[in-house]
Amino acid sequence: MKKLLFTPGPLTTSDTVKQAMLNDVGSRDKAFIEAVKYIRSEMLTLAGVSKEEGYETTIIQGSGTFGVESVISSAVGVNETLLVLANGAYGERIVKIAQIHKINHLVLRFEEDQIVDPEATAAFIAEHPEVTHVACIHSETTTGLFNPIKEIGAICKAANKVFIVDAMSSFGGVQMDIKGWNIDYMVSSSNKCIEGVPGFAFAVIKRSELEKCKGQARSLTLDLYEQWNGLETTGQFRFTPPTLSLMAFRQAMEELKQEGGIAAREARYQQNKQVLDAGMLKLGFQFYLKHDIQGHIITSFLYPTDTNFNFERFYSKLSERGFVIYPGKLSKADAFRIGNIGQIFPADVEALLKAVEEILAEENVLLQMQSS
Ligand SMILES: Cc1ncc(COP(=O)(O)O)c(C=O)c1O
Repeated sequence: MKKLLFTPGPLTTSDTVKQAMLNDVGSRDKAFIEAVKYIRSEMLTLAGVSKEEGYETTIIQGSGTFGVESVISSAVGVNETLLVLANGAYGERIVKIAQIHKINHLVLRFEEDQIVDPEATAAFIAEHPEVTHVACIHSETTTGLFNPIKEIGAICKAANKVFIVDAMSSFGGVQMDIKGWNIDYMVSSSNKCIEGVPGFAFAVIKRSELEKCKGQARSLTLDLYEQWNGLETTGQFRFTPPTLSLMAFRQAMEELKQEGGIAAREARYQQNKQVLDAGMLKLGFQFYLKHDIQGHIITSFLYPTDTNFNFERFYSKLSERGFVIYPGKLSKADAFRIGNIGQIFPADVEALLKAVEEILAEENVLLQMQSS
């Protein structure tokens, strides 16, 4: 059964993206090397930066976390200090990476339903001159909020700090200005808003920062500088690459162009979100986040208070009907998540809403209508 994934990734992909994986390709073959070169060049274009402006890109085998770990463990030197701005599970994951690699770090935490506060960040940085690098999540997939990256980037620039952004679930689906927002490292992965399949992470990096990573890595496989150096000098990966995932990604990049680029994709995701919000509100569901900090990538909905609601049964019944949603990851509230990204369109969201309504009726779940 073909299922639609309303998740933060892996996502529903097009048939043509999947078909791009049907032919075996050699990792040292000229055609593959050319494909990788093209992908890396297109990544810079999508990021709105260029080599001439001093930006580079590299690809790291594995999932998104491998990319984040590669950046964190390569970028922060032994005598440097990382400040992690955390308001969800993915910020906490960066803290864990710093702990494991014994990287000097400080953490400024905010509640999960609050954005990272730029003023508090500026004050914290002023009080801790030892901070050299600042890391923040753009779209905190734990809840679905968007952190104010532009404002935090301006603070980093004014204080001369290196700015690392995990834009895993937003790059390709949200217009962002890497240069204008002073982002030195931006990390994302193949199976998010570019709509490829899982297999690798990638980073867009300011060359002047990347060069400082030389000899600093704490791991062989996740050495960001050497990974880039290998791709740059030989065009090849140091270790076996996810060949077919890269071929799918190349096709996904073409399809993103055909759709009209990031602006058009963002508009479709926003439309999906509008249909979802209107439908879920009508059914009586409550949002976890306040509207003004909620992004359009993924939404957390609170469990209904009616004791007839059982998430496992709700999830399974939706899955049996071909709709895969996502469990919650909140530390203080029971919620589930619905994503708007991937090859899903407003009509698919309408179909999901109809299934939700049917299942609530079947399960005798009564929802309180919101007063607002
Ligand atoms: C913001 C963010 N960072 C990091 C990750 C980790 O990516 P992965 O699960 O591919 O390792 C995710 C995954 O959804 C994410 O949303």
